[in-house]
Amino acid sequence: MTEPALLAKIIAHRGASGVAPENTLAAISLAAEVGAKCVEIDASISSDNIAFVHHDDTLNRCTNGSGYLCAHTAAELDSLIASSNKAGFEQEPLPRLSSVVALLSSLQMGLNLEIKPTPGLEEPTALAVCDVIRDSWPGDLPLVLSSFSREALAVARDTLPGAARALIVCAVPTDWHHQTQLLQCRNLHMAAPLLDPQQASDINEAGLGLYCFTVNQIEEAKRLFAMGVDGVFTDYPAELLKSFS
Ligand code: G3P
Ligand code: MG
Repeated sequence: MTEPALLAKIIAHRGASGVAPENTLAAISLAAEVGAKCVEIDASISSDNIAFVHHDDTLNRCTNGSGYLCAHTAAELDSLIASSNKAGFEQEPLPRLSSVVALLSSLQMGLNLEIKPTPGLEEPTALAVCDVIRDSWPGDLPLVLSSFSREALAVARDTLPGAARALIVCAVPTDWHHQTQLLQCRNLHMAAPLLDPQQASDINEAGLGLYCFTVNQIEEAKRLFAMGVDGVFTDYPAELLKSFS
């Protein structure tokens, strides 16, 4: 029987990204300040295979750079500002995954690390993420490696079998049980509006942890917890933590 990989009931999605620039050290620090015990972040790689924390394939939306992140060297990415999509914040660097891990370690926070490869870079992205985790993740804090990419999860399974994994889906696929078994995943992470009670019950019964994104309304979180969801990813952890601890 699979054991769920428990993170926290309220997880700060890309840090406290409703308020601070997403996937930055500031967003993670703010999440900690408001009482979050766990964050979700996204990771992809530079052209020289260094893992950076960023959601999109391209740099345009969140940074003062442009073009594909994977087309830039780590040295080039180190010089970018990643707070250009939020007014009123100090300039924030585009963080390397290693810096985020160091911060989480000092804050004693758990991590859901989403491996977010640019298509075609599934294997090197998963390998770069696993390298950082192997070298520096403190063993006593909750950690789940997740991905929409089954290829990236298979690489993580084979490279760092001891790290818990989650398959991310939008809607629950018909072969969810087979896929999570094949990838030896302990959790299923999915889009909140697409979950129905029967699916939630089947997933719980299979012994998988069940987490939903992106949940910014208290009523929606209540509905999901009543169905047996273990936790939700939210852009506004301060607000949800007032109702759920
Ligand atoms: O990991 C959960 C969620 O973050 C997946 O979607 O696009 O926000 O990375 P996205
Ligand atoms: Mg994500």
